Amino acid sequence: MTSLADQSTAQLGGPWSILARQKRDHVRLDELLHELASSTPGAEERRVLRSIARLVFPHAFAEESVLWPQARRLVADGEALTLQVESEHQEVNELWTSLETLPPTGSERREVLRRLAEVLREDVRDEEDHLLPQLQEGLGAAQLRVLGLAWEVVRRTAPTRPHPVVSRRPPGNALAALPLTVLDRSRDVLDAVADRSPRLWGRASRASAGLAGAAGRVEQWGPMRRGERPQTSR
Ligand SMILES: [Fe+2]
Ligand SMILES: [Fe+2]
Repeated sequence: MTSLADQSTAQLGGPWSILARQKRDHVRLDELLHELASSTPGAEERRVLRSIARLVFPHAFAEESVLWPQARRLVADGEALTLQVESEHQEVNELWTSLETLPPTGSERREVLRRLAEVLREDVRDEEDHLLPQLQEGLGAAQLRVLGLAWEVVRRTAPTRPHPVVSRRPPGNALAALPLTVLDRSRDVLDAVADRSPRLWGRASRASAGLAGAAGRVEQWGPMRRGERPQTSR
């Protein structure tokens, strides 16, 4: 069993296989984490964090709803391996949520950012070194491409922000996908408007905060938590 890190694109099943798609995102994440480490607190750091959120949350949401259920069916210790990765995703969601309430500078924020980068890197290693190579053993190149397409479709239409309360597993996360995606992506548009136009900053920020409140209420709805394991519940 060889880590994805040590395999060529051809060995991963071609550029459209789920393994090559995963590796491309993980490489991009590593670049962004280096940018984050060298960014100055304030606008620059916020910009890099936003890029990381837009990459990480849809990526992980699509893993939880499309990939890990398959891994639990196909991989011998899929239950334990996917639970480990889901616990890392849960920690990322919780750290990010706490970041949103902390002042823009200070030791507490620095510590949250340090742990965030650390757990994101641990998640990549667990996936590339253990979980995904095991999934690879059970699937041919054509199946890897089909799974890659399914993951990509969900990733492009998934929530873009942390949601620590919703289930990390189906059926809860599948039910949550549509309303949270609409709310998150509307907030992304409003935040971009607020960034670009000082005149509209107040109105756009208030509207975004209103949608954040709505997302919080959606998350609390009981069916969104169905399928959750105690290890990833909050
Ligand atoms: Fe991943
Ligand atoms: Fe992940």
